[in-house]
Amino acid sequence: MSVVIAIDGTSASGKSTNSKLVARELGYVYVDTGAMYRTLAWYCLEKKVDVANDKDVALACRTWKTKLVCVSADGLSSVRLLVDDYYPEKEIRTPATAGAVAQVAAIPKVREWMKRTQRDCVRFGNLVMEGRDIGTNVFPETDYKFYLDAKLEERSARRAADGVQENLAARDQRDSQRATAPLMIALGATVIDNSRMTSVETSGRLIQEIKQRMKAVGVPKAS
Ligand code: DC
Repeated sequence: MSVVIAIDGTSASGKSTNSKLVARELGYVYVDTGAMYRTLAWYCLEKKVDVANDKDVALACRTWKTKLVCVSADGLSSVRLLVDDYYPEKEIRTPATAGAVAQVAAIPKVREWMKRTQRDCVRFGNLVMEGRDIGTNVFPETDYKFYLDAKLEERSARRAADGVQENLAARDQRDSQRATAPLMIALGATVIDNSRMTSVETSGRLIQEIKQRMKAVGVPKAS
């Protein structure tokens, strides 16, 4: 039975940076579920599928040729979703893809497909999985649930420092208000506001809590 650490939260709340630090420290496999939604959004744009048409997007999601692989680099193992054996690493970070992804992610059939695919990642071992609905919907049974957040100004500044200008408030609102699996704090999740914390501090807090909980629930000590 794999251990799954669920790290949800708002956009630019440090989910990726901290999930990778935690995965490295524990020797777990890192899974970026946002990248999977972005991959579908990119694929639809490539194939000229109208992202406003739920049926067409659901059909694309039902029929695209994908594969999950686990790759290791710089001490981190991570899962990638390939489409036609291709990993669109740069393409999924463009403004066009970012602009389309929330629409795609709101479609119930898409979310069903994603949930199935994300749950399938346990075949690669113990996971640190980041997203918006991991603790509430994808792995609600896990004992390890975290919700990261930071003040809007702080998150916008972080994105700007990465060279990305984005209306985070609008994206958070879309992610929180969709009918299916909206962004929300999972029952029992530890909430960490890291507005004034460095990633070393945030990941340190996560690792400390995870190890404490492992002792409490009797999971074999992490490496
Ligand atoms: O984390 P990110 O910015 O790469 O996520 C891209 C989009 O995908 C984001 O608008 C919300 C959506 N998403 C989701 O609905 N559920 C997830 N588990 C992960 C991401």
